[in-house]
Amino acid sequence: MLRRTLLAAAASDRIREFVTATPATRAVVDRFVAGEGIGDAVRVARSLREAGLNVTLDYLGESVTDPLHAAATADQYTALLGKLAAEGLTEGGAVEVSVKPTAVGLSLEAPEPGGSSAAGERIAAGHLSRIAAMAAECGTTVTLDAEDHKTADATLRLAASLRETYPWAGSVLQAALRRTETDVRALSAAGSRVRLVKGAYAEPVSEAFTDRHDVDKSFARCLRILMAGPGYPMIATHDPRLIAITRSLGLSRSPDSFEYQMLYGIRAAQQRALAAAGAKVRVYVPYGSDWYGYLVRRLAERPANLAFFLRALRSL
Ligand code: FDA
Repeated sequence: MLRRTLLAAAASDRIREFVTATPATRAVVDRFVAGEGIGDAVRVARSLREAGLNVTLDYLGESVTDPLHAAATADQYTALLGKLAAEGLTEGGAVEVSVKPTAVGLSLEAPEPGGSSAAGERIAAGHLSRIAAMAAECGTTVTLDAEDHKTADATLRLAASLRETYPWAGSVLQAALRRTETDVRALSAAGSRVRLVKGAYAEPVSEAFTDRHDVDKSFARCLRILMAGPGYPMIATHDPRLIAITRSLGLSRSPDSFEYQMLYGIRAAQQRALAAAGAKVRVYVPYGSDWYGYLVRRLAERPANLAFFLRALRSL
């Protein structure tokens, strides 16, 4: 309930202005976000690599309403990939990038908030193919993040079209969505890279399981399908029970045939412990100045984060 209220309130421009203008927010942002510029992203990626972790970098921003902004985001990704490659960080896909389709234009001219349009899809396809070409040149991969369910079909089409040229292009599937078990079966093919997450968006009950236990059960079902399949599962959760199930299902696979993924700033000790035990672990690291939507989703996931944030505001 708190989670849904928070995610809904986040859409208010007044709340966004208040939160982003409040200096005390910085401490909370710094926990989850690497910094504002490419230099920060590269620095954090380098230090995670030194700790034996793989990385996926996300340039923050979503639902862009200006085509120039979408193009600038794509430019940011190609510049980032160039810098990472120059430092030898992209070798073997050790550091890759995650892209939100609405950050590169999918929501341009969308008829409703959170949605997509045919024109937006064409623009996003062009930018994504430019980013993927640069990733290929740098020896690494791209994963398309999953957003509001209204963009799910378009996002899966964009990923399928990228995979025609770049078979390693990854998709994200959200266990919270009722459709996902079917999508998992369709995508669990040889060569596919699928990241399984619980889902961070406030979705209507017609589309999604809203009870946490139902989401967890859906995650476990999808996890079993992916881990039994011939693709490359990327299991993205901090949930100890789901990590334990992954570990036991992984015993019948080679350790390099799947990976665990977690977010920067969350359960860092667990990330290192899994890697030290021989598992492949990738940390999702966001950077950039447009951190508001990302921060709200992290606060909504955990009441303790919200309490920390409110205490910081009270100390002003
Ligand atoms: P859950 O929320 O049940 O948390 C389990 C435990 O993890 C908690 O008890 C706590 O210990 C810890 N934890 C979780 N969240 C925390 C937080 N914010 N702060 C502190 N501790 C926390 N979603 C999406 O819709 N589209 C996407 O593309 C992605 N991409 C993505 C990539 C990666 C690598 C990860 C790990 C996650 C995503 N997500 C996502 C987010 C995902 O959908 C989900 O909202 C979060 O991972 C939280 O869910 P958990 O599976 O961790 O379980």
